Amino acid sequence: MNVLFVCLGNICRSPMAESMFRQLVNSAGLSDQIKVDSAGTSNEEEGNRPHPEARAVMQSHHLSVEGLVSRPITQRDFAWADYIICMDNMNLYNLRRLAPAADQTKIHLANELVPGHEKTEIPDPWYTHRFEDTYQSLARALPLWLKQIKRQLN
Ligand code: 4NP
Repeated sequence: MNVLFVCLGNICRSPMAESMFRQLVNSAGLSDQIKVDSAGTSNEEEGNRPHPEARAVMQSHHLSVEGLVSRPITQRDFAWADYIICMDNMNLYNLRRLAPAADQTKIHLANELVPGHEKTEIPDPWYTHRFEDTYQSLARALPLWLKQIKRQLN
């Protein structure tokens, strides 16, 4: 199973989600069965490491920041991924516009599985500077995705 996290710049929310989800997958002993990556809908930050405040929050939660480098999503990603999990409605709109028809059902909002928050966004900390809030929102949503994906493993 391949899981791709997507935000706008791929320097704040989606690399944090990638690192957090990889740690969840590793802790569950599923790293052979679930692959994790992230990308941005924009190429604005291509080649850049995560935002310094995102890195600081990740490190404060003992998450790895190794190997995280921003890149824009490509058509190959749509084929590769089984799940494309994005952060806000703008990501959703852009992904639906970019994705081939056959891959549309792969696209989800991160909060979709969080009871009572199904349609809520994970706001862009690039603007809010609330990077710890981003971590907390992802910490609530990501275990629910792992639970769902685990059910589909054979
Ligand atoms: P992200 O945050 O989508 O969570 O990575 C942003 C990073 C960069 C920009 C916007 C949002 N930017 O405009 O460059």
